[in-house]
Amino acid sequence: MNRHFLALNQYTKEALDALFALTRELKEEQKKGIPHRILEGKSVALIFDKSSTRTRISFEVGVHQLGAHPLFISSATSQMGRGEPVRDTARVMARYCDGIMIRTYGQEIVEEFARYSSVPVINGLTDLFHPCQIMADLFTVIEHKGKYDGLKFAWVGDGNNMANTWIEAAAILGFDLALACPEGYEPDRNVWDWAQKKATSSITVTRDPKEAVRDADVVNTDVWASMGQEQEQKVREVAFKGYCLDDDLVALAKPDCMVLHCLPAHRGEEITDSVIEGPRSVVWDEAENRLHVQKAIMASLMK
Ligand code: CP
Ligand code: NVA
Repeated sequence: MNRHFLALNQYTKEALDALFALTRELKEEQKKGIPHRILEGKSVALIFDKSSTRTRISFEVGVHQLGAHPLFISSATSQMGRGEPVRDTARVMARYCDGIMIRTYGQEIVEEFARYSSVPVINGLTDLFHPCQIMADLFTVIEHKGKYDGLKFAWVGDGNNMANTWIEAAAILGFDLALACPEGYEPDRNVWDWAQKKATSSITVTRDPKEAVRDADVVNTDVWASMGQEQEQKVREVAFKGYCLDDDLVALAKPDCMVLHCLPAHRGEEITDSVIEGPRSVVWDEAENRLHVQKAIMASLMK
């Protein structure tokens, strides 16, 4: 295991598979009521520069279940919001805490934080990546399909933090990924180039959602405007017309396909009510698995 969890590209297939195996163990134990206070007596800071429901709650509960103490820290009400440098905050917090999770804007912020922190740092979402979410998504696929190998994954929508992290996961784990993104909303160029060099599987991008979804085993989408892009909502509504995961689109995937969405969802925009509430949707399992997968990540980094 690496010292931090900032991006999937720092990990091998073997390391990610080990995290899935530990996730399974911890989930089974938790369901049976077997305690696993692996981080007894420790403290984990959870820093939020952006809003959150799932990440905040799953980390707070997960830290508690591991026997440690979670500290919720909003940038706005700490000195970070008044301009205290990242590197100073990182060095001070590492003197008090045994691990730090950060949700923020630039990936370079979590990287700087990690450089100056003597304790493990976990990326809880940046504009570039959302690695905890993709780990939960993949664990959900493994639970339902028994594997990720040999499956076709489809992405419909923005080439955002979720799409970028899927691309890294496909390159590392070796599954096929077909993305459909509107012009001007493609995934990050550096992530794309890195993945194309590394991948042994097929990672493609098209403008046509039908082409991406055809015969897919797993279909995934996300909001058209991510946090920090709210002012682009109207422009994006025009650009993303036709990129809605509706029943007609899902019908092109395999009959037993799984529909994923990291949530929060905007019903009627990137996904219809009928699809998210429909029989192929696994979004509630997916949200739950944030808890289990993050416990495995924290246990591996901080024990
Ligand atoms: N999926 C996800 O990260 O949700 P929150 O923004 O509610 O944390
Ligand atoms: N792409 C979304 C994911 C939210 C969990 C965002 O960054 O807002």
